[in-house]
Amino acid sequence: MVVYLVCGIAALAGLLFGFDTGIISGALLFIEKGFALSTVMKELIVSSVLVGAMAGSLCSGWLTDRYGRKRVILVISGLFIMGTLIASLAPNVQAILIGRLFIGVAIGIGSYTAPLYIAEVAPLHLRGGLVSFNQLAITIGIMCSYFINYLFTNTQASWRWMFLIGLLPAVLLFLGMFFLPESPRWLVKQKKVHQAKNTLHFLRHRGNIDHEIAAIEKGLTVREASFSELMTPWIRPVLFLGIMLGFFQQVTGINTIIYYAPTIFQMTGFQDTATSILATAGIGIVNVLATIFAVVFLDKIGRRMLLLTGLVGMFISLATLSLAFQWNSDSLRWIAVLSTFAYVICFAFSLGTMLWLLASEIFPLNVRGLAMSIAVFSGWLWNFAVSSTFLSLLNSLGPANTFMMYAVMCIIGFIFCYYKVPETNGVSLEEIEANIRRGLPLREIGQPSSFTAELSKNAVN
Ligand code: BGC
Repeated sequence: MVVYLVCGIAALAGLLFGFDTGIISGALLFIEKGFALSTVMKELIVSSVLVGAMAGSLCSGWLTDRYGRKRVILVISGLFIMGTLIASLAPNVQAILIGRLFIGVAIGIGSYTAPLYIAEVAPLHLRGGLVSFNQLAITIGIMCSYFINYLFTNTQASWRWMFLIGLLPAVLLFLGMFFLPESPRWLVKQKKVHQAKNTLHFLRHRGNIDHEIAAIEKGLTVREASFSELMTPWIRPVLFLGIMLGFFQQVTGINTIIYYAPTIFQMTGFQDTATSILATAGIGIVNVLATIFAVVFLDKIGRRMLLLTGLVGMFISLATLSLAFQWNSDSLRWIAVLSTFAYVICFAFSLGTMLWLLASEIFPLNVRGLAMSIAVFSGWLWNFAVSSTFLSLLNSLGPANTFMMYAVMCIIGFIFCYYKVPETNGVSLEEIEANIRRGLPLREIGQPSSFTAELSKNAVN
């Protein structure tokens, strides 16, 4: 079906997100052999992408509304290409930082725009699945980056090659997007209804196009909220939920593993770089598999169940890793491998998938764009805070205490999610919005409206 191809091409932006964030884990070990790097400089190389991503995600809502989704994705593929060339040909560390900053801006804009474009070209019944498809693309990108890291381990100037391979998906994204249509929803918003109809004909082949255009027009009659309206009392709680999900997704430490796994494995006693990079490739594989599991079973098991179970698993794995460092026994490296594998699996089917999914479900229509970009920004901000301090924390607190700290954040995250995260399984976005307007507590906004109407009636009586 054409729509799968269209979404597949747009999801290349997610793949690049994963690739360009994951590739640094292996590349870092070789960059530090070429240039003398201080701990802070290493952290900067890893987190320059995140600074760019923060900036990118903040202006993404405005850019996509003004210039259209397609044009913005074309521009970010250009940024990916430029950033990749600068980083891989860099004569010094400063140039690597600049190249990675460009890549970061592209990732930040893409992390908002690609799922938006996918949601807008997908037919209604495929929308949820296709949004999670983006998270799958991110994990596939991370996995590919780990294999590329492994493949180029024994090559001269290996880090340059590792970065350079990112050119391939970036060029594919550019060429692919060039031939793809603009989002029909954006076209209707620009009063280009005729063009929107042609696009829908191309995407759907048959089906009731007029019906869909009418639905888009109806949706667009909802006035979009301004920034200050985000702070109105009925919206504040869901905005808080989105921001906190972004916070917990990052402060529970996922990217200390995703970006620094080979470094951690070397600390546990794996002597050669290739073995620790190979163990990291294993992480990439289980990450993808657990995400596929989440996408397939999400609706059967329920979001809350997956989220809470995942957080418990993440806590146990991190606490085990921390204790293993504390005892420092012979088996440390194997415990480290097993516990990081278990941790990544638990993250993938819980916080990994759920942030992006819940962020696309919980916000009322008139604030969805703005609120989503704030939740995404919160993720990038905390990602930066964690990734740019991890190595310094290892030096000052030691690995046992550092990982215990992230383990404690899993417990706090569990308590927060237990009391605040709603089960949104099988409930329409309109019902969720009606529940928020009715002022229900966060945990109950995912109840079917008949149930909540009954609840409020009983409360009145
Ligand atoms: C997170 C990234 C993380 C990735 C790992 C995503 O959901 O936002 O920060 O690197 O999952 O799979």
